[in-house]
Amino acid sequence: MKWWQETIAYEIYIRSFKDSDGDGVGDINGITSELDHLEDLGVGAIWLTPCYDSPHADNGYDVADYYKIDPTYGTMEDMDNLIKEADKRNIRIVMDLVFNHTSDQNEWFQESKSGKDNEKSDWYIWRDPAGDGGPPTNWRSIFGGSAWEYDETRGQYYLHTFLKEQPDLNWENPEVRKALIDVANFWVDKGVGGFRLDAITYIKKPEEFQDGEPDAGDGMVGIHTVTANTDGILDFLHEFKSEVQEGTDIFTVGEANGVSAANLSEWVGQDGVFDMVFEFNHVYIDIADDSNWCKTREWTLPQLKALFSASQEITLETEGWYPMFLENHDQPRSINRFLPEGADRQDGAKALATLLLTMRGTPFIMQGEEIGYVNVEWDSIDDYDDISTKNHYEFAIKEGYSEEEAMEGVHRFARDSSRTPVQWDASENAGFTTGTPWLPIYDDYKDVNVAVEREDEDSILNWYIKLTEIRSEHHEFIDGDYKELFPDDEQIFAYTRESDSGKSVVLINLSTEQAEYDTSCITGKELLIGTNGTTEEGKLEPLEAVIFSEK
Ligand code: GLC
Repeated sequence: MKWWQETIAYEIYIRSFKDSDGDGVGDINGITSELDHLEDLGVGAIWLTPCYDSPHADNGYDVADYYKIDPTYGTMEDMDNLIKEADKRNIRIVMDLVFNHTSDQNEWFQESKSGKDNEKSDWYIWRDPAGDGGPPTNWRSIFGGSAWEYDETRGQYYLHTFLKEQPDLNWENPEVRKALIDVANFWVDKGVGGFRLDAITYIKKPEEFQDGEPDAGDGMVGIHTVTANTDGILDFLHEFKSEVQEGTDIFTVGEANGVSAANLSEWVGQDGVFDMVFEFNHVYIDIADDSNWCKTREWTLPQLKALFSASQEITLETEGWYPMFLENHDQPRSINRFLPEGADRQDGAKALATLLLTMRGTPFIMQGEEIGYVNVEWDSIDDYDDISTKNHYEFAIKEGYSEEEAMEGVHRFARDSSRTPVQWDASENAGFTTGTPWLPIYDDYKDVNVAVEREDEDSILNWYIKLTEIRSEHHEFIDGDYKELFPDDEQIFAYTRESDSGKSVVLINLSTEQAEYDTSCITGKELLIGTNGTTEEGKLEPLEAVIFSEK
C-alpha cells in the first residue's frame, strides 16, 4: 500500500489555525508550533489551504504569485522549515493548487489584460461583447452575478467561474499548462507530499459558448451546469499526471464537483487521473440547488448511506481510493448537517468520527472537527466575512426570499462556520492569537477547546485518538473490503471491513432514539471499542457507535 493510503489527512485553513505573530491571522509558524497536536491525532498529511501571495478576495484562492508565500502567512524560509519539521514527525505537506483561475492581480493576468497583442493575451478566456454590448453568455458565476467581467482596455469580457477577481485561465493554451506544471514541480522539488487540485472540474470549457436555459429569476444559468466536467478535460489531467506525478511518491486529490459515482472510474483507480477525488454527492444531500441556499431538501439515512456505499463500491471495483470527508472549509459543520436536531454534541461528534475514520479510504479531518465544532449563527449578514456567503444572501433576497429566510440559509450553509479560529485553550482569544482574531472565536471556547479535551478521557478528541490507534492496529480498516449491512435501516449505519488482516463490523446509531439490530453480524466477534463503554448486544443507545472484531 502507498503511504497516503495508510495515513490520516488533516485540513488546515491557515488563516484560522494558529497565529504566531499577534496580527490576528493564522500563519505558517503557527502551524509548525502545533505539529504535536497533529502527531497525536495520527495525521500523516496536512492539506494546507493556499498560502501563496494573494490579495485575499477569496482568502487566498486568488493567487497573485504561486512562487511566493503571502507575507501575512510568513516567508519561504518558514515554509521550508514547516516541511522539514513536519517531516521529522512523518507528516507531509499537501499544497492546494488553485489552477482553474488566478487572482486578477497576478502578473499573468495584468499582462493579458494590457491589450490584445501581448505574449499572454490568450492566457485567459476573453470574448467580445454580445450584439447588445452585454456579456457574451448568460452564465452565472458560482459566487453570484454574471460570470463575465468587462475590461475597458481590451474592450472585451473575461470569464470568471468564481469572483470577478478570479479570472479563469485558458487551459487550451499549451503555454498555460506548461506554466502550471512548472509551478507544481517547483513544489514537488520542495518535498511536499501531494496536491489538492482546486475546482479542477471547471478547467475545460465547452467548444461553443452559448446561452443556457435560465434557472432563476435573473435570467441566468449557473456556470456549473454548462462547464463542469466537460469532455476532453481528462486529457489535460493525464498530461499533468505524467509531467508532475510520475516517478514521485506524491499523491493527488482533485476537488471534483460534478463527478458522480458513475464516472468516478475515469478519475481515480488504475486508469484515472488522480489518486482520489473529493465528490460532493453526500454533502449536497440537504440542498436542492447549491446556488440557492434557501432551496433545502429533506433526506433520509438510507439515502445518505446509499451515496457513501456507491462511492465505496466503485472505488473498490476500480482499485481506486476514496478521500473520506464530512467537512471542509467550504461546508458547514457535520454535526449540524448530518445529525437530527437536538442531537447531543459530544455523542454526535463521536458517532460521526467513527464513520469518518472507519470507511475505506483516507480520512480527511477538517480543523476543529476533532473537538466537535458546530455552526456559527450570527445575527446579521454583516457579521459574516465570506464573500460567497454574502453573495448567497443577496441572491436569496433578489429571488424574493425574506431576510429571515435568507439568514436561515446563511446559518445553515455559511462557509464561515468551518473557518472560525481553532480553540486551543480557555485563555483569551482561545489561545489562537494575542491580537484581535480576524474572525470571531466561537463563544463556547471556554468549554470547547483542545486543552480541555486533551485532559478529559471521554472527550471527542480522545475518541478520535482511540480510533486512529485502532486503524493502525487493525489493518482491515485500511486494506479491507467494505460491505454495507442493513441498507434500509433508518437509524443505523453499519458495515463490515474485512481483509486477510482481520474482520470488523462497525455499527453507528445516527438517530436520537434507541435502535436494535440483528446480532448475527457480530457472531464470533467481540466488542473492540464503543462510545458508551458497555453495550447490550443487539441494541444501540442514541448516537452510540460500536466496533466488533473477530477474536
Ligand atoms: C474551491 C475552494 C473554495 C474556493 C473556490 C474558488 O471550491 O475550495 O474555497 O472559494 O474553489 O477557488
